[in-house]
Amino acid sequence: MKLINLVGTRPQFIKAAALSRQLKLHPSIQEIIVHTGQHFDKNMSDVFFDEMMIPNPKYNLEVNSLSHGAMTGRMIEKIEEVLLLEKPDVLLVYGDTNSTLAGALAAKKLNIKVAHIEAGLRSFNMQMPEEINRILTDRISDVLFCPTDTALKNLQAEGYENFDCTIVKNGDVMMDVALFYAKISSQKSKIIEQLNCNEFVLATIHRPENTDDVESLKNIVSAFNTIAQKINLVLPLHPRTKAIIDKNKIDTFFKIIEPVGYFDMLELLKNCKLVVTDSGGLQKEAFYFHKHCITIRKQTEWLELLSGGFSCLVDSKSEDIINAYEKMENKKSDFNIDYFGNGNASEIVVNTLLKF
Ligand code: UD1
Ligand code: UDP
Repeated sequence: MKLINLVGTRPQFIKAAALSRQLKLHPSIQEIIVHTGQHFDKNMSDVFFDEMMIPNPKYNLEVNSLSHGAMTGRMIEKIEEVLLLEKPDVLLVYGDTNSTLAGALAAKKLNIKVAHIEAGLRSFNMQMPEEINRILTDRISDVLFCPTDTALKNLQAEGYENFDCTIVKNGDVMMDVALFYAKISSQKSKIIEQLNCNEFVLATIHRPENTDDVESLKNIVSAFNTIAQKINLVLPLHPRTKAIIDKNKIDTFFKIIEPVGYFDMLELLKNCKLVVTDSGGLQKEAFYFHKHCITIRKQTEWLELLSGGFSCLVDSKSEDIINAYEKMENKKSDFNIDYFGNGNASEIVVNTLLKF
């Protein structure tokens, strides 16, 4: 079987690492990595390939930094060229980015099977580009791999059982990688030594709804400035957010660092007091490392984290974020709940594809 593993953004490299490790165990599968180029800085892309020994992409399409239409359109065109040349049996896509949708559309129109990892997630907010990408990708995928019961129920509610597709609940492939690399990250990373602070809050911010509206971003930064008077706050800064902070000269009085590689991130997660984020992936990783999470979003796709009290949603208002911090800082919870599978999500994907 010839399989194209399509990636483009930071979390997709991490998810693809989980799949690549499994695919290598099956000599009957030929894996080709295609990188759309959506993320391209060394510490947003190469670092993950190097650290997790993901095979080098055979193609890098170098499509990035464009409007949604231009980016998706150019990706479709370039992915189609690769698909026509390589003629794979299956295209594997992850999540909800422009790279995901472009890949699914290009493959489906060539009658190449599409397997979607992280299918069925919904925020029910059609203002989010990710919601549009994931709904359209789900609808044209042949195999839909759901990370949670909620994702499975969402597909059932939308009538997917009547569609010509296979639905499998496999768990979260990010859990597979997190558990695997957490065993070695402390030997590979020096970030905790370098930061030289005992106690800290780990923050990340990159969603357009929080960054592209300057008032929202100023409110978030102001809350971080207040929290940082009490405890160190460390923020590996996404290039989207950096550009807007710099352009608007927003004052920051906490520790800003460059985006970090995965080993550093795992060490930050293990050692932090709690997580404040709008990242999809980080909400779950906080849970994997038994940390509470304040999620600066109006909705989340990971409802189980909310109902279990592991995460809370807050708007981008300074006082709401500060209040949430005060509520969460000393909270105790039992994190031993199996919401996201058993760390064998990628094995289930590969075994399903082999039967296909
Ligand atoms: C994209 C995904 C989002 C995902 C995120 C993961 C879409 C619509 N959005 O958002 O779902 O959560 O990736 O991080 O696909 N940039 C750099 N260097 C890089 C990468 C980006 O400078 O290595 C800049 C780009 O030039 C652009 C901005 O950051 O100006 C945003 O990048 P883009 O890929 O469009 O969206 P993300 O916000 O990263
Ligand atoms: N991540 C990382 N370095 C960073 C920030 C994030 O390795 O500086 C990892 C993080 O641990 C998670 C993934 O990138 O595995 C999430 O990426 P991001 O927040 O950009 O995207 P999202 O999950 O929101 O789509």
